[in-house]
Amino acid sequence: MEQSQILRLTERLRAELAERRSGAAPAAPAAPAASAAGATFTVPAARYLDAAWCERERAALFRGPRIVAASASLGEGACEPIDRADLAGALVLRGPGGTLRAFANSCRHRGTRLVDAPCTARALVCPYHAWTYDLTGALIHVPHAAAFPGVDLARRGLVPRPAVERHGLVWLGGDASGALDVDAYLGELGPDLAALALDRYVVWRRARATRRCNWKLVIEAFLDGYHIRVLHRDTIYRFFLDAAASAEPVGTHVRAVTGRRALETAPEDLSGLDLRQLVTPSFLLFPSTILIEHPDFVSIMTVAPRGPDLSDWDHMMLIPAERAGEVEHWTRSWALIEEGVFQREDLWVCEQAQRGLEAGATDEMLFGELEEGARWFHGAIEAALGAR
Ligand code: FES
Ligand SMILES: [Fe+2]
Repeated sequence: MEQSQILRLTERLRAELAERRSGAAPAAPAAPAASAAGATFTVPAARYLDAAWCERERAALFRGPRIVAASASLGEGACEPIDRADLAGALVLRGPGGTLRAFANSCRHRGTRLVDAPCTARALVCPYHAWTYDLTGALIHVPHAAAFPGVDLARRGLVPRPAVERHGLVWLGGDASGALDVDAYLGELGPDLAALALDRYVVWRRARATRRCNWKLVIEAFLDGYHIRVLHRDTIYRFFLDAAASAEPVGTHVRAVTGRRALETAPEDLSGLDLRQLVTPSFLLFPSTILIEHPDFVSIMTVAPRGPDLSDWDHMMLIPAERAGEVEHWTRSWALIEEGVFQREDLWVCEQAQRGLEAGATDEMLFGELEEGARWFHGAIEAALGAR
C-alpha cells in the first residue's frame, strides 16, 4: 500500500479508537434491535446455499484479471498448470526471451491434459501420442504425421489464453473480448500495488486446498477485524487490537488497515516510522483475492467457487528476495499464518458457518457496524449480478 494511504488510514483508525475510548461511539456492536437504522444489514442464507445463484456468481464475477502466480516463480522454461476453479484448464509458461504465455492445457489431437505438474521444459510433449509443442505454442512434431492426410497440422497449435505480467504478478482471465487490462481493473489501487514492489519478492511457500464452504464466507472473514480477539485468541491476537480496523471501498475493491498493539504506544507523529509494525494493511481485489502486508512478508490469497459449498483456496507467501536465506524465520511464519491462522482458524470457522447455514435454522446472515467491509463486498456482488 502506498505509504501516504497507510498513514492516512492509520491516523483515521487512531482517531476512531480515541473516540471509542472516550465513549463517543459504542465500543462494541449494539444488539441488532438497538442499533441505528441502516447500520446493520442482512444477506439471505440462500446466497450461500443455492447452486443456481452460485452459477450466476461464477458467470458474472470471475471473468476479470486474476492473479495466478508471482513473476519470480516462473523462470525461463518454467511451466505450470492452473487448476483453480476460476481458471481451470489453463497453463502458464515462460518461453524463450522471457515471454510469458498462457494456453489451454489441452492437446490439439484428442484433448489430453498436457502439463500435469509444475516443470521446466524445452517443449511440451503430450503423454498420449507425443504430439509436441514448442514454448510459443506451435505444434512442432507429430509422430506418423502422414496418418493425418488433409489436416493442416500447422494450424493445430495450442489455444492461447490472455495473460499479462503486472506489479510482479502473473494475471490470467479477461473479459468476453479477451482483453486483460489489469490497470483498468485495479483502478485507484494501481499505485498501492506498485508500492509493494513485488518484483523484488520470491514465493516462499504456496498452499492450495479445497474447503467445504461458500467462497463468500472466506472473503467476509478477511474483511472483518471483529473476530480476531475470539477466533485468533491463541495465535495472532497477541499482535492485534480488538476490533480495530479502518477500511474504505475503492471501486469494487476494499483498502484497509488493521490495528496492531504497537499502535497504542506509538508517538503522536507517525512520520518516519515503519507503519507495518503499527497496522497491517490489506486489500480485497474484487471479487475474491485478499492481499495482506504482514510486517515482513506478503500473503496473496485467492478463493474460487467449485459450487455453493466448495471453494478452492490458493495462498502464496511472498518474501523479500534478499532475505530468502532466513529459512527458520519463514518456516515459523508459514506455520503460524497458513497452517495455524488460515487453515485451522479462518477456513475452519468458514466451514462451521456453512454447516450452520445448512442446518436451516436461520434464513439470513446478520452483519454489524464492525463488519462494514462485507456490506461493500455484497453491494458490489449485487450490482454485478443485477440483483436488488
Ligand atoms: S491426445 Fe495428445 S498426442 Fe494424442
Ligand atoms: Fe481471521
